[in-house]
Amino acid sequence: MRGILIGIAVAAISAAISATPAGAIDYAKSGDIIPPANYRDWVFLTSSLDLNYNEPVPGAAAPAKSQLDNVFVNPEAYKVYMKTGTWPDKTVMVKENRVAAPSADEIGKSGKVQEGIISIELHVKDKKRYPGDGWAFFFSNGKTPTARYVARPASCYTCHEEHGKVDTTFVQFYPTLVDVAKAHKTFKGD
Ligand code: HEC
Repeated sequence: MRGILIGIAVAAISAAISATPAGAIDYAKSGDIIPPANYRDWVFLTSSLDLNYNEPVPGAAAPAKSQLDNVFVNPEAYKVYMKTGTWPDKTVMVKENRVAAPSADEIGKSGKVQEGIISIELHVKDKKRYPGDGWAFFFSNGKTPTARYVARPASCYTCHEEHGKVDTTFVQFYPTLVDVAKAHKTFKGD
């Protein structure tokens, strides 16, 4: 009996936690976003090394610590992308930036492994909320419960609009998505 009661309590709690319907985006009152807790269960698009946004200083030494990023997209948007070659409304993309340790100690002498989070960036398409092309950017240091809304004008928008190959996203660096866009003629300049 006790076991059953505990079972019911656990089921009730997990139902409450997952009350947000799939595909819904959680915003804070301030206009910031609450990054989805389960984005690591989403579709993985790529991992890139030292693709930071700063212009390299000519002749400067390489940074002592490298940075790796992991990009994820919500499964609902991914499914539509695979059929259409572009992102639907309510697309949420998460770029998680992590420290790359200089070496993987005794196992792989020249290998590098990922460590703690440096920051989390989000790129969200929500047409009702963001007039124009519907896209908005958010940024967090990975420690706060919300990620800050980046208002226009900002370099996030200009770089993505100028260089992103599908809509304002960097599909050219997501290897399994490139051919899908090319087949649907949604890949810019192709
Ligand atoms: C100088 C160009 C540049 C600027 C400025 C820039 N990005 Fe990006 N962004 C990129 C590149 C390149 C990628 C591809 C990442 C990869 O391949 O790992 C990317 C990918 C992303 C992604 C993954 C989804 C997508 O759109 O492809 C997010 C989220 C993101 N950036 C957020 C931001 C935010 C937030 C800012 C502003 C604080 C920003 N970016 C500024 C170049 C830029």
